[in-house]
Amino acid sequence: MKGKLVLVTGGAGFIGSHLVDWLIRDNEVVVLDNFSSGKISNVKHHLGRNGFTLIKGDILDKKIVREAVKDVDVVIHQAAVVGVKKYVERPLDVMTTNIFGTHNLVEECLREGVERFVFASTSEVYGKSERIPLRENEDRVLGATSIARWCYSTSKAVDEHFLFAYYEAYGFPMVILRYFNVYGPRQETSDYSGVIPIFIRRVLGGEPPLIHGDGEQTRAFTYISDAVEATVLAASKKDAVGEVFNVGSKEEVTINQLARMIIELSGNEFIEPKHIPYEEFYGESYEDIRRRIPDVKKAERVLGFKAKTPLREGLKKTIEWYREYFSQNLTTVR
Ligand SMILES: NC(=O)c1ccc[n+]([C@@H]2O[C@H](COP(=O)([O-])OP(=O)(O)OC[C@H]3O[C@@H](n4cnc5c(N)ncnc54)[C@H](O)[C@@H]3O)[C@@H](O)[C@H]2O)c1
Repeated sequence: MKGKLVLVTGGAGFIGSHLVDWLIRDNEVVVLDNFSSGKISNVKHHLGRNGFTLIKGDILDKKIVREAVKDVDVVIHQAAVVGVKKYVERPLDVMTTNIFGTHNLVEECLREGVERFVFASTSEVYGKSERIPLRENEDRVLGATSIARWCYSTSKAVDEHFLFAYYEAYGFPMVILRYFNVYGPRQETSDYSGVIPIFIRRVLGGEPPLIHGDGEQTRAFTYISDAVEATVLAASKKDAVGEVFNVGSKEEVTINQLARMIIELSGNEFIEPKHIPYEEFYGESYEDIRRRIPDVKKAERVLGFKAKTPLREGLKKTIEWYREYFSQNLTTVR
């Protein structure tokens, strides 16, 4: 992708800021972020550079959204309230931002006539489906609406429905990406983040990783550079429009294995992982997903995308980055 004006919402966040680093080489980039979880340190190396504009604002604010999409060719929509602990503790923020914020943005993009809109959806959309590997047209299997744990999945699924409906009604040029557990440098390490940065923070601090439940639940983790590549392909491949794609790797790992690998790669082999009940971390009504592995054939076929980074290699790079970060900042990434 070259010579475009690209808006990245949530561009000061983890995935968004890596996208900005890639896009700015050959494109002009506008970032819209309210800095609720994003950090200025993620984009400060671009401040003052030609072709980079930072707008501090909320996707819920129609006026700011209209200003941000003006003359834009491509929109990559990453802004959302993210993180398991957040959707258990702050379901109203999740529903409001993820549904109404996205709707605002889509309406303004339609008005502006953008040529491509790439939406960051999630593997959470599948809920607790056990039909592994999960294909894009798989049924969603979810718990009761009284359980906040499912609100994030639902908020993103509502967005997907809107996008399919706008595509049907107006040919809105959308592409939906369902990321599967992305990890890498710059990801938040507080307890509101994902399992990899939390384990790395604890292990580098000499503390045991806390494994929820028996640790035999599995995931397939996606290294950030692979997620960026898939997103850029989705923004440029013609046949991607109107479609939804899994973005992930097929490398399945249990959380017990993941904890061991992080301990080994950190060189802190004296640490023993500790198992704790889910309730201790998330409260009573939490339900975990036993296996979550993508079927990646559609992304391979249409986008020409295949995740390249083995988990061990991605973890090594990520641990090195955090080691350096903590040595300079003596704090968690928040
Ligand atoms: N990281 C993952 O493993 C993963 C997996 C599946 C899907 N996703 C999706 O990818 C996207 C990026 O996730 P991330 O991991 O980089 O999270 P992140 O929290 O680092 O990034 C989200 C960004 O959105 C911004 N933001 C939040 N609410 C906003 C609002 N109302 N207005 C403007 N900006 C707002 C935040 O400040 C932050 O910079 C999200 O949409 C998320 O749902 C991430």
